[in-house]
Amino acid sequence: MEKMMSVVKILDKEFIPYISAEEISARIAETAKTLNNNLANKEEVIFLGVLNGSFMFYADIARQITLKAQFSFMRVSSYHGTESTGTIKSIMGVGNEVKGKTVVIIEDIVDTGLTIDYICKTLEEAGAKEVIICTLLFKEPAFKGVNRPTYSCFTIENEFVVGYGLDYDEYGRNLPEIYKLKPN
Ligand code: IMP
Ligand code: MG
Repeated sequence: MEKMMSVVKILDKEFIPYISAEEISARIAETAKTLNNNLANKEEVIFLGVLNGSFMFYADIARQITLKAQFSFMRVSSYHGTESTGTIKSIMGVGNEVKGKTVVIIEDIVDTGLTIDYICKTLEEAGAKEVIICTLLFKEPAFKGVNRPTYSCFTIENEFVVGYGLDYDEYGRNLPEIYKLKPN
């Protein structure tokens, strides 16, 4: 029997169940398998998690990667409340570790695409050989970027979501499943 998920309150807002832990883990297993197949012939691979939002997704997918690969993180920031601010800051950037390598970006969500475009540009400047984008969620209707995700576990509507790493003003990241903002 599926575990019951109910409404959660985070700060001033209510969120309703959206994607269960079981659905998340099933899609991650499929995505890891695809990555293991598709990247089998790559020379040097580095998985680069985008902090903070990707930490749960990263840990779950990393454990199912059987490739010879390196694992590292970078950190950017762009959100405030439930809206993207449009300006991206690199808080913890990348250095020599990506040079000449196939970089697999592990993101929690691609929304407008501004963040991912910024990250791709940063990685190109740092000398990455190839950049592959793997995101848990793709908010496709909001996307206005250049670099579309190569792999996405779920394509979602224009909803604000929390849980499984994703936050509302830094809260809600610890929820094991994904919730969306309750309509008024
Ligand atoms: P973008 O630059 O608009 O694509 O936004 C990307 C970043 O904003 C993601 O990496 C998330 O950290 C954050 N973000 C976007 N949409 C949501 C959401 O619905 N909930 C929580 N964080 C989000
Ligand atoms: Mg993020």
